[in-house]
Amino acid sequence: MKTIFVTGGAKRIGKAIIELFAKEQWKVIIHYNKSKSDAEDLASKINSNNDNSAFIVGGDLDNAEDVQSIISSVNSISETLDLLVNNASTFYPTPIEEISNDHWNRLIGSNLKGPLFLIQGFKEKLKNSEGSIINITDTNLTKGVANFSIYSAAKAGLESITKGLAKELAPEIKVNAIAPGAMLEPPDITWTENQKNKVIESIPLKKMGAEQDIAEAVYFLACANYITGQIIKIDGGRSLT
Ligand SMILES: NC(=O)c1ccc[n+]([C@@H]2O[C@H](COP(=O)([O-])OP(=O)(O)OC[C@H]3O[C@@H](n4cnc5c(N)ncnc54)[C@H](OP(=O)(O)O)[C@@H]3O)[C@@H](O)[C@H]2O)c1
Repeated sequence: MKTIFVTGGAKRIGKAIIELFAKEQWKVIIHYNKSKSDAEDLASKINSNNDNSAFIVGGDLDNAEDVQSIISSVNSISETLDLLVNNASTFYPTPIEEISNDHWNRLIGSNLKGPLFLIQGFKEKLKNSEGSIINITDTNLTKGVANFSIYSAAKAGLESITKGLAKELAPEIKVNAIAPGAMLEPPDITWTENQKNKVIESIPLKKMGAEQDIAEAVYFLACANYITGQIIKIDGGRSLT
């Protein structure tokens, strides 16, 4: 049985990735930070179909000690690891005049620093299984996004790490990124119909994406033998406009 570890796996896109891999009979390790009960519910639902196949691990990716304890917990759950998905993310605007060290640490921690140290921690395991790393970035950042300089820098850094590590960790480990477009409204924000229509209008396929579109792309990359160092845009063509 292959094993996948997904950060921020209790909700939304991370949850969809976990559900798809569980359906495909992988052992799933669900990471959460604040959403412990969502992670527990998801694991118990999966375990009710396939006993002892889903596990949960908590920790804050902004905190270096937590990152090391996440690595230890995953190691104690599973001797092997085939796929690490760096999906967890903090996302909020930081207009230049309001930026503080705390904003920097929070946005870099979950989107860049945490993923890098998780890769370092799981490198040997992934090497032994000839596994993969998939970093989830963002299709919008290449165009420049006003008021999101730290988030954009973090995601751009993650794309850069993806390419560098694809070379450094080859030939045993494949490293790719998936850059979603407009999939879900940001957590805790509900767009007005007008805002939503404006976003949809800017997408050639004239619809928002869904969590499953990202989960399917992750599954495709997990099964692909000859792809590394790539950033795959799943955005309905939005990056072309
Ligand atoms: N949604 C979109 O349309 C969209 C568009 C472009 C890119 N993306 C990217 O796709 C990925 C998934 O998107 P999403 O909207 O499903 O993500 P999300 O709901 O914004 O966040 C996913 C999870 O990240 C975890 N997280 C946040 N800060 C953390 C921290 N400091 N330590 C540990 N975990 C932390 C949270 O876990 P807890 O709930 O357990 O705290 C959260 O549930 C993200 O990388 C995002 O940047 C999404």
